[in-house]
Amino acid sequence: MNRKLTALLAAMALALAATGCGGGSGGDSGKITLGFSQVGSESGWREANTKSVKESAQAAGIDLKFSDAQQKQENQIATIRSYIQQKVDVIAFSPVVVTGWDAVLKEAQAAKIPVVLTDRAVDSDPSLYVSFLGSDFVKEGEAVGDWVLDEYKDATGPVNIVQLEGTVGSAPAIDRKKGFESKIAANPNLKVIASQSGDFTRADGKEVMQAILKANPKIDLLFAHNDDMGLGAIQAIEEAGKKPGVDIKIVTIDAVHDGMQALADGKINFIAECSPLLGDQLMDIVKKIKAGQPVDKRIVTTETTFTQQQAAEALPTRKY
Ligand code: AHR
Repeated sequence: MNRKLTALLAAMALALAATGCGGGSGGDSGKITLGFSQVGSESGWREANTKSVKESAQAAGIDLKFSDAQQKQENQIATIRSYIQQKVDVIAFSPVVVTGWDAVLKEAQAAKIPVVLTDRAVDSDPSLYVSFLGSDFVKEGEAVGDWVLDEYKDATGPVNIVQLEGTVGSAPAIDRKKGFESKIAANPNLKVIASQSGDFTRADGKEVMQAILKANPKIDLLFAHNDDMGLGAIQAIEEAGKKPGVDIKIVTIDAVHDGMQALADGKINFIAECSPLLGDQLMDIVKKIKAGQPVDKRIVTTETTFTQQQAAEALPTRKY
């Protein structure tokens, strides 16, 4: 073989390796290749979820290609298309929002690459993905609503409630609101006087709560769709000279470390857990798919709830 041809073949081999085109079942390393598109790094929950996915992939010997979409759907779609081009074995993603996935999911299906949804749902035809692993967000909203119903069962006048919603159009924001509002509807004294998105971030939670506090002199309870927005709101409440957990009761969802600490400290009153530890179950699903074994279409994460005392007891051994 002449030198020019040898060099050309070597260059082609390098280019294929860089794009992961040797992938397929096995790839260059003989490992399963998983392309994972993460929502972003908006919250403590998300950081714990990313850590879980990365650690579990390593422990399972799966070659993980990871990308952070910075809470933008267009970034996720571009990443998924790049995973299709790279011919990864399986694609997993946590969709920023519920709608708008049909085209890219059809492209993955046409390329015969199985897709697994983690954490959040889409409204596409279920035949376009193999499995959906994650929480029941409606149930989380209902758990918080049940606590509020019980807390105010003897109320004789209006209870003014503020809701900090998650990212607009995302499954957890839609479902938690639905679950919560369906429960509190049982007591006409419970009134949602303001409900706005804080995009699941601490900074937005603080800013939105500051504006709501200015416009509403009497707030009895805050329901934040995640701990981070609740923690941002706590700063706003304290800066307004009020005592979080006492002057304004606070209920949230997630139970990440900082939220649990605030609960144990009496600044939050109740948290419904949303587990970010999806990594091990995801790797099991990926392995089963590659082995041609059946996987459940819907796998719901096991979760609990925490009072202030339960948070103080759980904190020392909490993993995230
Ligand atoms: O999809 C899960 C939600 O997304 C978590 O409750 C929240 O903290 C995160 O940003």
